[in-house]
Amino acid sequence: MKRLISAIGLSCLCAMTSLWAQPKPAYLDDTKPIEQRVSDALSRMTLEEKVAMIHAQSKFSSPGVPRLGIPEVWMTDGPHGIRPEVLWDEWSQAGWTNDSCTAFPALTCLAATWNKEMSLAYGTAIGEEARYRKKSVLLGPGVNIYRTPLNGRNFEYMGEDPFLSAQMVVPYIKGVQSNGVAACVKHYALNNQETERGSINVLVDERALREIYLPAFKAAVQEGDAWAIMGAYNQFRGEHCCHNNYLLNKILREEWGFDGVVISDWGGVHDTKQAIFNGLDMEFGSWTDGLNWSSTNSYDRYYLAKPYLDMIKSGEVGTTELNQKVSNILRLIFRTEMNRNRPFGAFTSEAHSKAALEIAQEGIVLLKNDNHVLPIDLKNAKKIAVIGENAIKMMTVGGGSSSLKSKYEISPLQGLKQRLQPNVEVIYARGYVGDVGDSYNNVSTGQNLKDDRTPDELMQEAVNIAREADYVLFFGGLNKSKNQDAEGDDRKNMNLPYNQDALIAKLAAVNSNMVFINISGNAVSMPWINEVPAVVQGWYLGSETGHAMAAILVGDVNPSGKLPFSFPVKLSDNSAHSAGEYPGKNGVVKYNEGLFVGYRWLDKQKIKPLFSFGHGLSYTTFEYGKLTLNQKSMSKKGTITCAIRIKNTGSRAGSEVVQLYLTDKKSSLPRPVKELKGFRKVNLKPGESTTVEFVIDNALLQFYDDTLNKWTSEPGKFEALIGASSTDIKAKETFVLQ
Ligand code: BGC
Repeated sequence: MKRLISAIGLSCLCAMTSLWAQPKPAYLDDTKPIEQRVSDALSRMTLEEKVAMIHAQSKFSSPGVPRLGIPEVWMTDGPHGIRPEVLWDEWSQAGWTNDSCTAFPALTCLAATWNKEMSLAYGTAIGEEARYRKKSVLLGPGVNIYRTPLNGRNFEYMGEDPFLSAQMVVPYIKGVQSNGVAACVKHYALNNQETERGSINVLVDERALREIYLPAFKAAVQEGDAWAIMGAYNQFRGEHCCHNNYLLNKILREEWGFDGVVISDWGGVHDTKQAIFNGLDMEFGSWTDGLNWSSTNSYDRYYLAKPYLDMIKSGEVGTTELNQKVSNILRLIFRTEMNRNRPFGAFTSEAHSKAALEIAQEGIVLLKNDNHVLPIDLKNAKKIAVIGENAIKMMTVGGGSSSLKSKYEISPLQGLKQRLQPNVEVIYARGYVGDVGDSYNNVSTGQNLKDDRTPDELMQEAVNIAREADYVLFFGGLNKSKNQDAEGDDRKNMNLPYNQDALIAKLAAVNSNMVFINISGNAVSMPWINEVPAVVQGWYLGSETGHAMAAILVGDVNPSGKLPFSFPVKLSDNSAHSAGEYPGKNGVVKYNEGLFVGYRWLDKQKIKPLFSFGHGLSYTTFEYGKLTLNQKSMSKKGTITCAIRIKNTGSRAGSEVVQLYLTDKKSSLPRPVKELKGFRKVNLKPGESTTVEFVIDNALLQFYDDTLNKWTSEPGKFEALIGASSTDIKAKETFVLQ
């Protein structure tokens, strides 16, 4: 008996050793190059396993290969924090109690810092949060160009300028991916409005495409090495962007060399054949009725599921494209989930709150500050009136897919009370009732904002407290509800909603120390601007909103944000609404304004904006010296270095964003009056000065010649302009390209 047991034991052991003794498959061996692991894994997969991998299995995940131990891919929105866990097949939150995140400022605020270090800090922190929550892909950042102030999603993007957004997106991606989490840059491309977003066909000329709408995506791919990109909902030249041959096969893969994964926007796929052949890798969010109505699983009905499998089996299509898609996905998995060296991440850490706070403080823009109303004079102020719904309304909930369940959110009123009391009395009045909504996808703010008083009563109360206060801080603007700054719809006009204009004018009439703080991701019109001495652009600032606001308003932090988009006086000053079309006709929108978006249009038409692109004030003053060029002419292979001295001439430390714009004095094709081609944020103590240098090379002088289909520059005269904004030019010099 004993002998029998030991014989069995021995044979088992032999069988196991022979299993163990097998060499490790290459795909599991992380000493092997990724491409070898990809082809090894691919060679072991069945046709069914491959097809399973290229479409969703739930709202935010796709299957791995269970048999081979290749993990699932889990994704999360993006881009301002980690979305709460949702039910398997629903948008509704799943009700987990461990998923309340740090809410970071909206990307418009990040862009307004004009500070690449802030972008790296943002990406690193949000990447750590995604990693800790076990996500392989973060659905963000977004870099669609700000074409019209009506776009409901502008707050999720980085403004109107291709150079600024290209520079700012790269560090964010690097930060995210340093955690072994893929950044998925969205929405590629031309998703510049929410009206009819799922079907609208965008027609834009090649130059505007290349020079305005694509540079940030190109930088994300070539400089940021983004591992994923999301196709947009809209069509471009008659083909949906999620399977657009020109955008995906020709530009993204062939020209830019993208080796990552193209993920559809949720429900952005419309056709199996196009999805097979036109460069898409993964299909998400297509129509499904939950898990009930189909024979097995409604995900089988996705365009890239059974319909594709059937076509392959019947011989109608081959498997070359399938293998390509699966290879791209495997590559992403080896970069993320199956990268044993990736860090473990961190969630709602103090460091993340600190990053959120610093980004918020650096992004807030002081737009106007007549009579030095700000910062609040703490020596003399006894009573401060805080007015407006946006002083109390939680803004991290709502707005669409970027809605969050944040661990905490300090409102402006809370932040001001914490900072000012008990020395200063802080009194509050609502002033108006806007949106009393308190939940999104089942995440509730816990706030009850119902108020049954009449508009007159609310206004009267606000005017009364404004009259007796030393300062009035009015927190108004937009919010994240429908037709404001929210996904799915655009704004209806550029005005402030809820009759705020009338209230603001009344408040300004009774108190000359009036500050309007605009909470929004979009420009708003300000018909009362001459009556209100101070205006602050406050964005959506996330968890640390109130702390950041208080720090800026009392002057603990000197404002240094600059606008990433222009504020036109009125909607018709914006090119999409004058030269171009918006929101289009019969399903088509023509970007007839071409290149002339944002300040490029205002410059061309000599229209004075309310606030210019690049504008932002400080509590100190800066003096710009003379611009010097190390030489007056350059060859196409050479460079010119321009240098300018800048001095802090005020009495407090502060930061200034020195901006370089270039003008092509004469060219065969029309060019903008000037274009941003460099910026540097410098921090200076009172009396301190420094020299800021920019190196100009040929790439900065080029334009896209659509007659030759290439980037080119033409010899001749150029001008380098240094500005504190796009309209506040401090110095200029000409040079020649030989
Ligand atoms: C949005 C994307 C988002 C996705 C998943 C879509 O509606 O356009 O930006 O990442 O949903 O939530």
